[in-house]
Amino acid sequence: MKHLIANWKMNFINSDAWLKDFDLNNIPKEIKVVICPNYLEIEDFYEISSKTHEKILIGAQNLSSETKGAFTGQISGKMLKNIGASYSIVGHSECRLQGEDDETILNKVQTAIECELIPILCIGENQEEYSKGRTEKKIKHQLTENLFPLKNLSKSVLIAYEPIYAIGSGIAVQNEHLEEVSLLIKDLVRDNLGIDLTLIYGGSVTSDSAKNLAKIDGIDGFLVGNASLDPKEFANIALSLE
Ligand code: PGA
Repeated sequence: MKHLIANWKMNFINSDAWLKDFDLNNIPKEIKVVICPNYLEIEDFYEISSKTHEKILIGAQNLSSETKGAFTGQISGKMLKNIGASYSIVGHSECRLQGEDDETILNKVQTAIECELIPILCIGENQEEYSKGRTEKKIKHQLTENLFPLKNLSKSVLIAYEPIYAIGSGIAVQNEHLEEVSLLIKDLVRDNLGIDLTLIYGGSVTSDSAKNLAKIDGIDGFLVGNASLDPKEFANIALSLE
């Protein structure tokens, strides 16, 4: 199933204005469009969009690895589900940089599923790992630590391959590299879990680069940061996924 996901990060977006300029009419029906606002905006965005843009689904940018209790400052997946979220990003490199470790990320994927949220697990190598030819090792490590211990997984998990050096940098990753890594991820998941998961790509995707990226074998959609802040640009990205 093709997915187009917006990660608004910690940006100030006026949901009303954004939705007014976001035209769903030209977006193919089979593409799932998911918007991930900041926690505080999820409820409002859900309420507004469910009246005007029924097709839009809502995601959170993160969640707690626990479902409830004495965890100051944390947000439970159940709380997110209650206010309209049906997805959650997990293990984004910006969260890993702030100290999220592999065990926490594994727990978050599991907790998201328990809370009936579809986890969008982000994985990818950094610049140094790429230059030293260690991409495959890193991908295997992250899948082994963050996903494979979960047995009986259904298809309700998404993987976002996001090479860290491509995020927010405008760097275009080579098509051959992307295709190679996408097929590697799909093969590893099939071999270890016996399922075919949806794999999306993230890292400086724009309506321009999307045309080329959408042709790559193994890529079923995009996780878009910066370019999703502009509703017209984001809608144009969807067109390349037809
Ligand atoms: P970007 O962000 O599109 O701005 O590179 C992508 C992401 O961080 O998920």
